[in-house]
Amino acid sequence: MSILSSIHETLGIPTMLIFTTVFLLSLWIVTRRQKYSNLPPGPRPLPFIGNLLLLIKTPSTYKLFHELAQQYGGIFTIWFGSQCTIVLSNVDTLREAFVKNGEVLGGRPRGKTSEELTGYNGITANDGESWRVLRKFSLLSLRNFGVGKNSMELETRIQDETKWLQTEISGYKGEPFDIAELFNKAVSNVICSICFGERFDYNDGTFKKLLHMLDFFFAHGGPRTGSRKMWKQVVENDRAIKRFVKEKIEEHRKTYSGDTIRDFVDLYIQAEENEEDKTHLTEENVFQLIVDLFEAGTETTKTSLTWGVLHMTQHPHIQDKCHKELEIVFDKDHIPSAGDRLKMPYTEATVYELQRCANIAPVTIPHRAQEATSVGGYIIPAEAMIFGNLFSVHMDKEYWENPSAFNPDRWIKNGMVIKHENFMPFGIGRRICLGKDLAKMELIIMFSALMQRFSFKLPDGAVADMEGVQGMTLTPKPFKVCAIDKYLS
Ligand code: HEM
Repeated sequence: MSILSSIHETLGIPTMLIFTTVFLLSLWIVTRRQKYSNLPPGPRPLPFIGNLLLLIKTPSTYKLFHELAQQYGGIFTIWFGSQCTIVLSNVDTLREAFVKNGEVLGGRPRGKTSEELTGYNGITANDGESWRVLRKFSLLSLRNFGVGKNSMELETRIQDETKWLQTEISGYKGEPFDIAELFNKAVSNVICSICFGERFDYNDGTFKKLLHMLDFFFAHGGPRTGSRKMWKQVVENDRAIKRFVKEKIEEHRKTYSGDTIRDFVDLYIQAEENEEDKTHLTEENVFQLIVDLFEAGTETTKTSLTWGVLHMTQHPHIQDKCHKELEIVFDKDHIPSAGDRLKMPYTEATVYELQRCANIAPVTIPHRAQEATSVGGYIIPAEAMIFGNLFSVHMDKEYWENPSAFNPDRWIKNGMVIKHENFMPFGIGRRICLGKDLAKMELIIMFSALMQRFSFKLPDGAVADMEGVQGMTLTPKPFKVCAIDKYLS
């Protein structure tokens, strides 16, 4: 005490304050150096706030990641405050991290956002054994409902929905309309039939309200950046979506028999009744799984199709080429199936190209390192957050010639569609999109059926905005489009 007071008297308060600050900073730097040695390179972080200033300055995270990838290469570090974050921006680092080290680097971050919205239940926010059991269960169940095998039943449901979509579009008689809204309804109806065993009329009030809430959730439900008021609304929307799912469960109980499992809600009731495996197939987990499927299964596919139409308005000759290809191989009333792919290589190539250029998921959902791991010769420390930077992979000049050009021909060799290792719109590894087979089926069927029948253009004087807005997905700004029905003209 006497030593402290004599130092105090000799140095005075301001010098003491400076001395303490320098001491704490040095301690912070030394501890960090020890914990975070051999990190991938990246912009210099400031104490405590990390690179937040950089993140605030650039409105779109994916653009910042793309710029930093040009500067620092395929693997770099960026600090979200004190959260160490690693960004993987080329095929090699992505494969090494998410495939070779997929188990260790396949966790999901723990944080207030996912805790409040999911309680870490379901698939998307979950990890460890609970995630593994649930993921296997969902893939098997999706397969039983016809996803990923040549199921006529599921394909017919998508084709039927596509017919509704065509009729609605044709009803606008070439006048401008919002196609995103229609895609929302069509795609959501497919996932509704898998989850709840029913489709909704496009004018159903509850359905419209529900889709509006889903849109809001995806626009603002990412990591908490908006105001408190906005966040409150996100949580309220999420609760309303859950109330809707709960109502469906109550309706199902009245007709549930257990002999035939009709949809995911029946699986939930079965899980509730089945006493054997309550460790992971809990009601909370299966309930959140339905919410995950419903939320992830609508917005993503709808946004991809909406970008597809917007790109087509900018490339009339590509629309024309698709139409000619489809006109030759199919009758007027035939809605193409996924199995028809081989007959329509140019249209299939156009779907791949629209996914590459649209980048609706420019970065993956964040992963979490469950242990310290080496990738690309650097250390990814335990508890680091990891993003796959899919945008940079799809725009890599070393791989794609003139990457910003929309060019379906890059997918065709000797009249056949080829694969590209730099194409990963659904991510890669253990956490690859759970609904990719369903999404692929919906995209090819709906896109080709629209190309077969309509020609899309923007209203006179309208200019396309190809920048998009980044929320949880990268969506086109709202626009109206005119669809000329070739069968009517
Ligand atoms: C074109 C449409 C779609 C795209 C581009 C897409 C893309 C993605 C991406 C990039 C991820 C993150 C992978 C990672 O974290 O590394 C993901 C995860 C996921 N997707 Fe999709 N998705 C699409 C459609 C769907 C559909 C239709 C469903 C549901 C039926 C779905 C359900 C999920 C789920 C549940 C996850 C989390 C998987 C997990 O954490 O294990 N997605 N998706």
